[in-house]
Amino acid sequence: MLRNKGYEVVINEAASDRPAANEEILGGVSGADALLSTLTDKISPEIMDTGLPSLKIIANFAVGFDNIDAEAAKQKNILVSNTPGVLTNTVAEHTFALMLAIAHRISEGDRFSRAGLYKAWGPQLLLGTDVSGKTLGIVGLGRIGSRVAEHAVRGFGMKVLYTDVKPTPEFEKEFGAVFVEKLEDLLPQCDFVSLHVPLLDSTHHLMNETTLKLMKPTAYLINTSRGPIVDEKALAVALAGGVIRGAAIDVFEFEPVITPELKQLENIILTPHIASATEETRNKMAELAALNIIEALEGRIPPNLIK
Ligand code: DGY
Repeated sequence: MLRNKGYEVVINEAASDRPAANEEILGGVSGADALLSTLTDKISPEIMDTGLPSLKIIANFAVGFDNIDAEAAKQKNILVSNTPGVLTNTVAEHTFALMLAIAHRISEGDRFSRAGLYKAWGPQLLLGTDVSGKTLGIVGLGRIGSRVAEHAVRGFGMKVLYTDVKPTPEFEKEFGAVFVEKLEDLLPQCDFVSLHVPLLDSTHHLMNETTLKLMKPTAYLINTSRGPIVDEKALAVALAGGVIRGAAIDVFEFEPVITPELKQLENIILTPHIASATEETRNKMAELAALNIIEALEGRIPPNLIK
């Protein structure tokens, strides 16, 4: 799309299988009119200054934009856009895939089978737990949280409790969901807890030693939002000590590094931040990021400016 419009596009090919180094971004942004960043690119005020005066927009290839100092961008009159909406369904599907996989011990069963350990069928072999009819706690009823709740109610007859900064009465009416003001009151009631909040100072380590202990010992934690919302060391201790039964996470506190203790555990599923990674959705994200750039460079208001 960008080349068709006649723009010169410079791609950092070297960083295709690792996060881009700060110096690489600095080198690339100098003299550029637009920067298309991915969620592991840390876009600091220094990078913005290097792009000025030409840099008009930073188009993030993600719905989350905690990797960009948005306040600094605003002060420097640089637009910032993201890719909301197009990935809602895919991330909700992945969330459900994780929930079903951890409850039915899919990854564990796969490892077991490949290791040649399946010698005989048995009524107690790799017993998991049902998802249908259970209580799901949604932390953050935004686009993705709502879609997960919808699947939970419509597809699996689950009861949904949710916490957010404010209640959504229409949603409660449609899906029979119940607003619980405090996370501390929601956690003890849920069989599954799924995180869908943005990464902010107020959500950093929302799940920590104390809050994990409020969950049922039979409960599972699912995270497809941002890694630092969970204290990974505390999660490893909770999983190893039976504080909770299991976890399935797509995002990591120190991405792409994974806390080694987590990798030792059987009762956790780890996917490498691929919740939106389907061909359809990644193409739509790319198109949206390019569209935001084109609109900005042609003097129109890009459709997905962050507030
Ligand atoms: C995003 O776009 O922010 C998500 O993390 C993709 O899974």
